[in-house]
Amino acid sequence: MKLLFATSELAPWVKTGGLGDVSAALPVALRAAGIDARILLPAYPALKAAFPDAPLVASIPPPGPQLYGAALRAARTPEGVPLYLLECDAWFDRPGNPYLGPEGRDWLDNGKRFGLLSRVAALLAGETSPLDWRPDVLHCNDWQTGLAPAFLHYLPHGRQAPSVMTIHNLAFQGIHGRDLLPELGLPESAWSIDGIEYYGYLSFLKGGIQHADAITTVSPSYAREIQTDHDGMGMGGLLRHRGDRLSGILNGIDTAQWNPAADPHLAAAYDGKHLAAKAKNTAALRAEMGLADAPQMPLFGLVSRLTNQKGVDLVAAIAEELAELPAQLVLLGNGELELEKTFRALAAQRPHQFGVRIGFDEGLAHRIEAGADIFLMPSRFEPCGLNQMYSLHYGTPPIVRATGGLADTVIDDSDHAHGNGFVFSDATPEALLATVRRAVATWHNRKAWQALQKRGMQADFSWTAPARQYLALYQSLIQTQ
Ligand code: ADP
Ligand code: GLC
Repeated sequence: MKLLFATSELAPWVKTGGLGDVSAALPVALRAAGIDARILLPAYPALKAAFPDAPLVASIPPPGPQLYGAALRAARTPEGVPLYLLECDAWFDRPGNPYLGPEGRDWLDNGKRFGLLSRVAALLAGETSPLDWRPDVLHCNDWQTGLAPAFLHYLPHGRQAPSVMTIHNLAFQGIHGRDLLPELGLPESAWSIDGIEYYGYLSFLKGGIQHADAITTVSPSYAREIQTDHDGMGMGGLLRHRGDRLSGILNGIDTAQWNPAADPHLAAAYDGKHLAAKAKNTAALRAEMGLADAPQMPLFGLVSRLTNQKGVDLVAAIAEELAELPAQLVLLGNGELELEKTFRALAAQRPHQFGVRIGFDEGLAHRIEAGADIFLMPSRFEPCGLNQMYSLHYGTPPIVRATGGLADTVIDDSDHAHGNGFVFSDATPEALLATVRRAVATWHNRKAWQALQKRGMQADFSWTAPARQYLALYQSLIQTQ
């Protein structure tokens, strides 16, 4: 079976969040399961630098007078996954974040940029592909490739592969003006409530949800939540309508990149049988962040995009109480300027208890997962979430809100046989604080704490099982074609 995985991020080269991690790990697991999985993504500067000699394998002419043509270059990751790099320097040769300009705002031409990515994904899935290699299934991810199933629907070219649309986050829908429609070369017939029109705008994600042969999201709970008006972010009705095609497949984690027994970013290696060495990472993290060397206090860790989704404001709201417990906190994140400011101010007030790093730092993310005693992830919504699984795997029990993938991976400590963390329901500072207090009480009971840590570390969060579920889905699409 041949699979084309179309994405806008790929760790370690281009990553703003979990999509980069999933794009790096899932195709590797699919290849291990016997699928010829290949990745299509834009040739951003980081990829051009990583693969400077990638040969040209196809030229793609511009679809209209106002539009750019593109080229495809072939490369291969160190793990052996073939890449098709979509080269169009006018759209993709921009440094930094793939979606945002230097001022932190979306690039104004994102519709054209990811319209091209979507169009080329569809092209490679059909009979008129310029490549000899033709996928049996096209797998699209998030709005940036969401228009590909719409291109296949409105501009079919003979035999073409069925498509899967995976929603990693319904909050990002790729909403653009109507004027983009002719610019993308899509026909007027696409402009309908059964097409890509969405309250007077053009929605990339709606195009994918409407026209893909299967829709998945990244946890079973999120698959249920997004079919409600409350959590459907305006798409609940459509997702219910397509409910027979929608399923939730829980993400895995890349246990080669995230393994406390062999993680080059850590001060000391450890595993479930040698938990004592974890304390060395805690001491090193305190030193790195300039915190007091105070092993009698629990050290909370948080790594996150700083947005309303992640509920990090709830942590800021209980900062005083946290300090008085007493406890320490290490936070790594970037995002909304107000939240960045709030956490910087907290660190300035209590430099020995709160260590804050605003920015994106892969190594520090690993050191927090390993060094913290308790991980905080109080998300308002969370399609899957990878950090809580990293923390479970690193023996750092997480505190999570019962939503989406967090609810599917974390079991509350009150279940003495299966508990691996702490779960609360209300997105309020009070509910978070009560759970923080509960976690700290358990932390002071060394025996109970170790049992909790070990249960988290023993679980299998690898991609093996999810890859099998994707394989079964792809097979079902090929059979019903
Ligand atoms: P989301 O994709 O919604 O941001 P996930 O938990 O699925 O949430 O994935 C986030 C990924 O991004 C994790 O690998 C996490 O470690 C990483 N990450 C988030 N913020 C930072 C940061 N500031 N520095 C380094 N890594 C980060
Ligand atoms: C999104 C979600 C996150 C998920 C990730 C990878 O960014 O916010 O919950 O883990 O995608 O699927």
